[in-house]
Amino acid sequence: MSFVDEINYTNALIVGASQGIGLGFVQTLLQDDRIVKIYATYRDLESASELIALKDKYPERLICLSMDITDELQVMECVRQIRTEVNKLHLVVNCVGLLHEGSVQPEKSLRQIDPERLLRYFQVNSIGSVLLAKHLLPLFKHRDRSVFASISAKVGSIGDNQLGGWYGYRASKAALNMFMRNVAIEYGRTCPKTLVVMLHPGTTDTRLSRPYQGNVPAEKLFSVERTVTQLLAVIEQLQDGDSGQFFSWDGSRLPW
Ligand SMILES: NC(=O)c1ccc[n+]([C@@H]2O[C@H](COP(=O)([O-])OP(=O)(O)OC[C@H]3O[C@@H](n4cnc5c(N)ncnc54)[C@H](OP(=O)(O)O)[C@@H]3O)[C@@H](O)[C@H]2O)c1
Repeated sequence: MSFVDEINYTNALIVGASQGIGLGFVQTLLQDDRIVKIYATYRDLESASELIALKDKYPERLICLSMDITDELQVMECVRQIRTEVNKLHLVVNCVGLLHEGSVQPEKSLRQIDPERLLRYFQVNSIGSVLLAKHLLPLFKHRDRSVFASISAKVGSIGDNQLGGWYGYRASKAALNMFMRNVAIEYGRTCPKTLVVMLHPGTTDTRLSRPYQGNVPAEKLFSVERTVTQLLAVIEQLQDGDSGQFFSWDGSRLPW
């Protein structure tokens, strides 16, 4: 039974919904009538034009909120706005992620290590999720089954790392996994019906992967639609004991 079948009123929050996988989640969830309200965050109006256009099409169900995940005050304000409308969330997917942005580019070797750039990776990829967990907690304190998923990455697996490189991105995703594993343990005490999971989406055709798609065989490069369908299938099949786990797009467990 899927988590949405167990409840009759479902509110979702997609964080980082301006483009890529986050926007794909919003588009797919809007097709599902069981989802009553979808809150979607964006950082910058310019890159969020498709999301904003969807809001005009679904004014009752889609609520767009601006939020930079590195600014705790903005996270708090976003949660405050959600709480003026609803007192429960059932599905939260944090799709925010940074691999390259201006002068922040993945490191090929130690020569390129720069403390400021490393901090930027951690601020966006790791700390953002735990800030969300801190402020969203009241919206998970209910008796309905719910899921809080963070999009991680297989390259954040320490056990799986055979290639090296991408110091900041890899380490920040490993830190994300540790943060959310901790959150799973604490949520297990405070809101035990919420499953906290980390999900690897597979290489997906988005802005983030575009510069690195050259060596990816066509069958291993997923469209956003395919990735979202696969990740929603993983989410729907989650069992009670799965909180705190790191899953790949096909539902298999990934090593830490
Ligand atoms: N694509 C892949 O192959 C792949 C593989 C493994 C894991 N992932 C992970 O999947 C997730 C989604 O990535 P994607 O491929 O969809 O990339 P994307 O198209 O670049 O989307 C990234 C999203 O993160 C938002 N974002 C970045 N910095 C932010 C900040 N400081 N505050 C708030 N939002 C911010 C972006 O907003 P703006 O539009 O404002 O920049 C955008 O909505 C990421 O966590 C990524 O690490 C992707």
